[in-house]
Amino acid sequence: MKASAPGFIRYALCVRSQAQLRHGCAAVLLFCLPVFALSNDPAGVGSARLGSSIPPHQPVHASNTVTASLRQLAAPQGFFIGAAVEAQTLRDDAGYRTVLAREFNMLVAGNAMKFGPLCPQPDQYDFTNADTIVAFAATNGMQVRGHTLVWHQQLPLWLEHGTQTPAQVKAILRKHIQTLVGRYRGRVAMWDVVNEAFDDNGPALRDSFWLKKLGPEYLAWAFQWAHEADPAAQLVYNDFGIEGMNAKSDAALALVTRLKAAGVPIHAVGMQMHITPEMPARLAENIARFRTAGFAVQFTEVDVQLPMPVQPTALAQQADIYRALLETAMTSGINTFVMWGFTDRHSWVPHFFKGKGAALPFDEQLQPKPAYTALHAVLTQAPSRR
Ligand code: XIL
Repeated sequence: MKASAPGFIRYALCVRSQAQLRHGCAAVLLFCLPVFALSNDPAGVGSARLGSSIPPHQPVHASNTVTASLRQLAAPQGFFIGAAVEAQTLRDDAGYRTVLAREFNMLVAGNAMKFGPLCPQPDQYDFTNADTIVAFAATNGMQVRGHTLVWHQQLPLWLEHGTQTPAQVKAILRKHIQTLVGRYRGRVAMWDVVNEAFDDNGPALRDSFWLKKLGPEYLAWAFQWAHEADPAAQLVYNDFGIEGMNAKSDAALALVTRLKAAGVPIHAVGMQMHITPEMPARLAENIARFRTAGFAVQFTEVDVQLPMPVQPTALAQQADIYRALLETAMTSGINTFVMWGFTDRHSWVPHFFKGKGAALPFDEQLQPKPAYTALHAVLTQAPSRR
């Protein structure tokens, strides 16, 4: 795979209003010959209480064969293959639940654990959505990644536009972290403690609400408070644009190394991996330097966006990227590969990137795309490579 410029993408939140750009995916369907015929609701969960009766190991049926799902291939290798999910979609979409439970052994809340959605009024938490996701994971034998404790986006309005003093903001953040991590202690295996602390293009720290109010010490405090609330949880620094070797990943490595040296409980680095069909520059080398510095590395939000309407050549190119990413992960000591969704039916990409979409391994009809076949092949072959 050719080395390229840093593979990160500046996602512009101002294009949120571009939801109408979501193209009908007729082209995707035409070119995505289903590799496996998925039954709509093989576990019969459509009428059952959410998450109550989905067997975790539902095989995928091809016409005459039965083959293992991604999680069935991953689990024996100690590997976690995951997806970000929305609670409302879990409630509403039986097909979504079925594929999710069958294919993945790790979940992350796409929005449900962010400060703003969780806590719309001071001291008024609504855990309904987060609980739905954690319960679904427990029922289906999946690990949960927590996302995210400290971020500059999706903050509660009462906080972002409030008049609290720095000391009050510090107390609010501490309480928030301890409330959330404490509630899911033992049930959420790992937390994105700090998300995107660097400028979009790095390497400076982002001049965020948290930096302005608390100064750079907020970073260490957040990890310490999370650790106090669940000493067994793996604590992660998560960002985009740190996948390849570049000035931003240099800065991230320096930051986490400094924190660790100061005794801060920080265990892993999450590379978000929102990319175009181009591999991040010197990805394996970059992973290796974080691991050498003592950090586990995870791919936390993988998606590979394509120009819409999607072309068959683009789907093949996308499959090559998914294949290369998973191969790189598995040969680099990574054991966590989480995508930001799993089906083009529910993806943030068309909403946030004008004219882009089709970023995930299942299409809008929940049929596997070439990218799925590529992931499946890598997991099938992995044991012989290790
Ligand atoms: C995105 C969600 O998918 C959207 O639904 C929401 O409107 C904005 O946030 N990096 C992250 C995620 O760490 O939290 C973001 O999730 C996608 C980029």
